[in-house]
Amino acid sequence: MNTVQILDKKFKLSIPSADINLKTREMADLINANLKGKDIVFVVVLNGAFMFAGDLLRYVHLPNHITFIKLASYAGTSTSGTVKQLIGLNEDIENKTVVIVEDIIDTGHTLDAIFGLLQGFSPAEIKIATLLHKPGCYRFNYKIDYLGFSIPNNFVVGYGLDYNCYGRNLNDIYVLEENL
Ligand code: IMP
Ligand code: MG
Repeated sequence: MNTVQILDKKFKLSIPSADINLKTREMADLINANLKGKDIVFVVVLNGAFMFAGDLLRYVHLPNHITFIKLASYAGTSTSGTVKQLIGLNEDIENKTVVIVEDIIDTGHTLDAIFGLLQGFSPAEIKIATLLHKPGCYRFNYKIDYLGFSIPNNFVVGYGLDYNCYGRNLNDIYVLEENL
């Protein structure tokens, strides 16, 4: 499919599944080479990263634990007006090599919250793996250790990413046509 309609929007094919698969294998190979001998916990950030994580982790051949988290925001008293809370971290990550697995890093605010919360559990180190990154929007300095594709500041769906909760199941990644 070259275009898809989701609700009121049209999206155009951007990254075909064959390219995603190749990239995913390359990223897994890098992880296999770099993290050999470490005590690894992959922390997959739901919902968006479910498909990427499923493909990436089947090519990782090192011993590891896999766990899934979500971020909940609620109105609070911090300066930003919201407080982020980690839900679902039921793994002991103390002194372990944690690899955060994300679908996309845009401004980096989500990553910043996750990084801060995970650091509170005293991991040995925290690495970051993301399929997509929008460097034009990034406002933080966390090093992205394993990166799939840098993309322009356009809205994308598919392969885990949603538009108003639809489109996560698409096999390829599509970009909003009005952004082009
Ligand atoms: P950040 O906190 O600005 O880095 O944004 C991260 C979150 O925003 C991601 O986990 C996605 O849920 C969402 N997001 C950012 N860009 C896109 C996009 O192009 N399509 C779908 N979701 C996006
Ligand atoms: Mg996400």
